[in-house]
Amino acid sequence: MAHVLVLPGDGIGPEIVAEAVKVLQVLSKDHGLSLTTSEGLVGGASIDVHGTPLTDDTLAQAQAADAVLLGAVGGPKWDALPMANRPEKGLLALRKGMNLFANLRPAVLYPQLTHASSLKPEVVSGLDLLIVRELTGGIYFGQPRGLRTLETGERQGYNTLVYSESEIERIAHVAFKAAQKRGKRVCSIDKSNVLETTALWKEVVTRIAAQYPDVELSHMLVDNAAMQLVKAPKQFDVMLTDNMFGDILSDEASMLTGSIGMLASASLNEHNKGMYEPSHGSAPDIAGQGLANPIATILSAAMMLRYSLNAPEQAARIEVAVGKVLDAGLRTGDIWTEGCQKVSTSQMGDAIAAAL
Ligand code: IPM
Ligand code: MG
Repeated sequence: MAHVLVLPGDGIGPEIVAEAVKVLQVLSKDHGLSLTTSEGLVGGASIDVHGTPLTDDTLAQAQAADAVLLGAVGGPKWDALPMANRPEKGLLALRKGMNLFANLRPAVLYPQLTHASSLKPEVVSGLDLLIVRELTGGIYFGQPRGLRTLETGERQGYNTLVYSESEIERIAHVAFKAAQKRGKRVCSIDKSNVLETTALWKEVVTRIAAQYPDVELSHMLVDNAAMQLVKAPKQFDVMLTDNMFGDILSDEASMLTGSIGMLASASLNEHNKGMYEPSHGSAPDIAGQGLANPIATILSAAMMLRYSLNAPEQAARIEVAVGKVLDAGLRTGDIWTEGCQKVSTSQMGDAIAAAL
């Protein structure tokens, strides 16, 4: 029996995770999914109880579980804490501690939401792209980092963008393998005209591409990629990015799909063990009001079934159920358009559970 550690986190995290767990419970009760869950604390919720955003015990539980389902971390309550103690550090420590170097963020436009996107329907209809983001390296983790005081008395902040060849190679393999199962195109994103690290990125990705003759590789500078994503997003199949570019471009890509509330993600290690979370944050401004869209988390649970728990039929069942509920015209506020029925977080979860 597979075991899933559930970490709701902060802000809207507990609300959206509850809906994903609801869906998983229906699958295990009525549709033969063999699964147990336990809950833990991460982020601000863990700081409040334990004084740290991730305890060693929770990390050990995450490492022992077959998969982790996470909501979101962070919020104004903990904003004044020093960088090393912030809620986000809990998430980063989980990613690093579980060696989850490969972050898959699919941006798929459900046809029912074509008009919820801020872009013209013809620009986004049929959109289906995958961002493969490196998740345990780059400027997020590079040393040295910190704040120092210069001789002038002025403070200076510094971070380091580092990637070794092996780190680039392994994420490139993930992108090329993913592309083989999709549209067979990889666009690697860099800033090789300015940054040595990403010039190396481009060189290594080009070298690895030779092992995948059936996949077409192109390169794009990150500023152009940001523009192309809103100009002609359907040109992309798999976008391969470093940690920070992927953070930014995946938020941008989410808006193509109508709302960041629709974007699921999987973070995997080399054995496809992983953590699953919506790509969005903890949205403290709407927390606790039943306004959040649980679909990104529910679709993340579907990714969990597919990638880590070897239950692809159950994953597809969830994805079909989401489509049915959207067909029926149910919408949380973020994806609501004229003529649709506005529902709360739990009503959306109930409807998806019922559609299974
Ligand atoms: C994300 C988030 C995180 C990140 C934050 C919460 C640390 O924005 O998963 O995209 O920057 O990776
Ligand atoms: Mg982000």
